Amino acid sequence: MSLHEHITASIAQTQNGCISFSEFMRLALYTPELGYYCRAKLPIGKNGDFVTAPEISPLFSHCLARQISNILASLPEGNILEFGAGLGTLACDVLLSLEQQNALPQHYFILELSASLKEAQRQQLEERCPHLGAKVIWLNQLPHQFKGVVIANEVLDAMPVEIIRLQDTHYEQAFVSYTEPNFNWHYQKITDLSLQKEAETIAANLPADVLSAGYLTEVNPYINPWIASLGESLQAGVILIMDYGFLSSQYYHPDRKEGTLMCHYQHQSHSDPLIQVGEQDITAHVNFSSVINAATAAGLSTLGYCTQAHFLLSLGLLELAGTAHNSIEQYQLAQQIKMLTLPSEMGELFKVLALGKQIETPLQGFERLY
Ligand SMILES: C[S@@+](CC[C@H](N)C(=O)[O-])C[C@H]1O[C@@H](n2cnc3c(N)ncnc32)[C@H](O)[C@@H]1O
Repeated sequence: MSLHEHITASIAQTQNGCISFSEFMRLALYTPELGYYCRAKLPIGKNGDFVTAPEISPLFSHCLARQISNILASLPEGNILEFGAGLGTLACDVLLSLEQQNALPQHYFILELSASLKEAQRQQLEERCPHLGAKVIWLNQLPHQFKGVVIANEVLDAMPVEIIRLQDTHYEQAFVSYTEPNFNWHYQKITDLSLQKEAETIAANLPADVLSAGYLTEVNPYINPWIASLGESLQAGVILIMDYGFLSSQYYHPDRKEGTLMCHYQHQSHSDPLIQVGEQDITAHVNFSSVINAATAAGLSTLGYCTQAHFLLSLGLLELAGTAHNSIEQYQLAQQIKMLTLPSEMGELFKVLALGKQIETPLQGFERLY
């Protein structure tokens, strides 16, 4: 069965001939073997559709490793757990960097939904750090009790979202139907109580003229359960979430009336998720306020929130780059640093959020730069 057939069959099974957008996005990205992240063709890197910070430069992971060793120093027997490890590049670079610092944990756990990405991770680890392979363990679910550092780089932006449309006092939710040969948008009154509450809160903060013109945005229904499960699992340690996004005031800004949903196909971006289904990435920016609120409800403290540029520079990005062996390498590192830190590149849009439990040590990545 093709992905197209699988999704149309799911739609056909419903009573009203449509599925919520978040269900469509989940099927498009994560249907085993067929979904965008689960098929054999790898999504990330030069031959894929987009690149992420660990693929741009190992300096990203080396800075992160400094932050991790700083945390693990105060957590004897703490381990690392990475969500959605992509091609495994961050895992390799963090492990190699911790080895150099003599700060390796006993285990590096990976929780990954995609079997083909798990295989890519296994291959890269085997090629680049076979002597550390025994430390890496793939899990299918969160451990009951975890102590250490949890990392999630560009994972939350890949979680399925609901799309809502607010017009005056009418709040609707996007559904997807199918009429051969196209998937189609279908808006219905919101019936889910928690989504209705979210819609009311967003609308309450928008000016009347913006609401009467119509306002489209997203809500991520997976954040609360994801953070709640982490809150239960984490005995002591830090969760580092790195992603593009903003706090609520920016996310639901009156000017952002088309939302943040984007698709990536061969390094080009557009905003139509109903085409090239399974061939393109679908992503939405992260509302960090909703992550912080979910964390508070789950008994986690917010330990820091800053831009990616601030985080990396606080952790000595420039000093790490000074280790280049020749002028070509020096030039390449300078280009990578620009990509990671310039406001026009990833520096400001990308944020780092640290949540934690039972942690006293200040985190170096969030210290003031000057
Ligand atoms: C945009 S990619 C980022 C990959 C990698 N972290 C990087 O920076 O290159 C998103 C990753 O998150 C994974 N993912 C999405 N939701 C997840 C979840 N709930 N649990 C674990 N992995 C998840 C995807 O399979 C994919 O590996």
